Amino acid sequence: MLRVLVCVSGGGTNLQAIIDAQKAGSLGETEIVRVISNNPDAYALTRAKEAGIDAVCVSPKEYGNREDFHKALLCAIDEAKPDLIVLAGFLVVVPKEVISSYRNRIINIHPSLIPSFCGTGYYGLKVHEAALERGVKITGATVHFVDEGTDTGPIILQKAVEVHPGDTPKELQLRVMQQAEWVILPEAIRMIAAGEISI
Ligand code: GAR
Repeated sequence: MLRVLVCVSGGGTNLQAIIDAQKAGSLGETEIVRVISNNPDAYALTRAKEAGIDAVCVSPKEYGNREDFHKALLCAIDEAKPDLIVLAGFLVVVPKEVISSYRNRIINIHPSLIPSFCGTGYYGLKVHEAALERGVKITGATVHFVDEGTDTGPIILQKAVEVHPGDTPKELQLRVMQQAEWVILPEAIRMIAAGEISI
């Protein structure tokens, strides 16, 4: 059984896609053991609780400095004994100690075709604003392993999505989620649980 921990910051639609896939039996031998949010108001926490999943908030605002926040985050992760950590819209830079403790066991969903529109400053709606600004006709999403860089780790899956004339950033974001993110993130977890991925 692959023990999966999901880190979130916001609405949690990717978390919901993982929960739904798990319930439908399409994640293979997988258990969602904990959801961690840095944001106490994240709707993702409600989604987790409604699904009966252990949900905790580790907010940087509760700690005097970054080091103490990082220690608390690592502690909340270690407690759940995860085999895989999934960053599903987690808008915190993952501390180095977490990356080294869970080397090649952390994956992230990014809402573009890496290496386009990724790296520092590219997150959420900003990614789609940049894609529209550049005038690309195809965008998409990427699931990749997390290393010390920003969006630099080995790529696991990508899926392309068409940009439509006149798209707003929100319209494009929703299409990328529906056609790409909610498909490839559960699929990457299934592949890892099935032992189909090696680095
Ligand atoms: C998703 O679009 C995800 O790809 C993006 O944040 C959104 C979270 O939505 N992540 C990043 O931009 C990471 N760089 P959700 O909370 O509804 O899953």
